Amino acid sequence: MDTQAGAPTGATRAHGPLTRRLRALRNRLNVTDHSDCGEIRRLAEERGALQQVATLVARGSSPSVIFNAAACALGGLIKADYTAINRYEGDRTMSIMAFWRAPGTPDIGPPFGGRWTLGDDTPSAAVLRGHKPSSRASATIRSDIGGWHRAHRIGHAVACPVIVDDDLWGTMTALYLGTDPPECDVEERMGKFVELLNCAIIQAKTRCELITSRARLVTGADATRRRIERDLHDGAQQRLISLALRLREAEETVPPEHRELRQRLSEAVQDLTGTVDELRELSAGLRPPALAVRGLDAALAQLVARCPVPVELNIDAGRRLDEEIEVSLYYVVSEALTNVLKHANASTASIDLEKENTRVCLTVRDDGVGGADPARGSGLTGLRDRVEALGGTIKITSPPGHGTSVVVAIG
Ligand SMILES: Nc1ncnc2c1ncn2[C@@H]1O[C@H](COP(=O)(O)OP(=O)(O)OP(=O)(O)O)[C@@H](O)[C@H]1O
Ligand SMILES: [Mg+2]
Repeated sequence: MDTQAGAPTGATRAHGPLTRRLRALRNRLNVTDHSDCGEIRRLAEERGALQQVATLVARGSSPSVIFNAAACALGGLIKADYTAINRYEGDRTMSIMAFWRAPGTPDIGPPFGGRWTLGDDTPSAAVLRGHKPSSRASATIRSDIGGWHRAHRIGHAVACPVIVDDDLWGTMTALYLGTDPPECDVEERMGKFVELLNCAIIQAKTRCELITSRARLVTGADATRRRIERDLHDGAQQRLISLALRLREAEETVPPEHRELRQRLSEAVQDLTGTVDELRELSAGLRPPALAVRGLDAALAQLVARCPVPVELNIDAGRRLDEEIEVSLYYVVSEALTNVLKHANASTASIDLEKENTRVCLTVRDDGVGGADPARGSGLTGLRDRVEALGGTIKITSPPGHGTSVVVAIG
């Protein structure tokens, strides 16, 4: 059968409606495909950005690192020119916790040295009133920050509430240069991101509070120790010394014929002198004087000299460290060596102290029986608290039969 090119045959004619439906379906699928791809890509970007931040939280990074990463991740995601994380302060100002700028934009911030007045007409002020996102053209912002926007050609600002533990904590702000308004779904995308970011802030906040409270505990304990040491020195120790002197004077005034009385007084003086020595040693143990006077290196050498197990001491010569770091490292070595004596049955031990720029690394190692377990005592756990309170890390490796190492890194 002859047919004209392009003319429908009976079969195709019969299938015409089906073909049309298939074509329509294919078109719909294509359209759906594209939008799905776009949506999937956006979700993947969003997830990637959040994952970056979540990884930092999981690693226990400091809040400032997390905030900077969040500001950067959000900025890239919503194509902002600048982003900031702001915290509401009690006096109607905002503190900028992080400020990010897109590559290629002028380096303009953070505004007002990082603390700016909230005003009444800024997006963050609107967020404070309504607890929901707010967007404004800079031209309509009369407050100081509006002037700063215009001076730097910022045309639009969008702010999203950051709610932590049911409290309005601050805002995440996106700033856009030029006159074009941001895409209409920016608020929604920011909101979604900020919602997920809250977890990071809560964790960062909790961890930060935890570290601060640990630091308070440790420094509190050190301060108490210092106070007891001073009280012992200035109080009981001095009174015992003067009592011993008075008894010695009394002893000398006893006539020779009262030999027994003289003898008893002399014994009392000896006892008292022994007690004073004991007290002096006790208070010296609370905070080693060598540490205050001659520094960590000398104090460690003194600990090693007193240790019955041979200890090799390797110290990077040089600078003194912060007092609280020196005190902590001293107690790490003191506890680790005490453990060597008490538990390790070791033939040798070693101490290595490396000081590189701002970082300090201390290792105490023994060749004893291994098997150390912090759950069985309080010494090793106390060391962990002490070191982590300074932002450091401690690693205890102690395979049974293969010795123990305690490695501390600070800075
Ligand atoms: N160097 C070591 N070699 C072998 N075992 C060790 C060593 N250090 C610690 N241990 C084991 O780990 C446990 C926990 O040590 P930790 O220092 O926390 O407590 P402790 O020494 O028993 O008591 P304290 O609270 O007085 O320090 C110890 O009881 C001991 O069994
Ligand atoms: Mg111990």
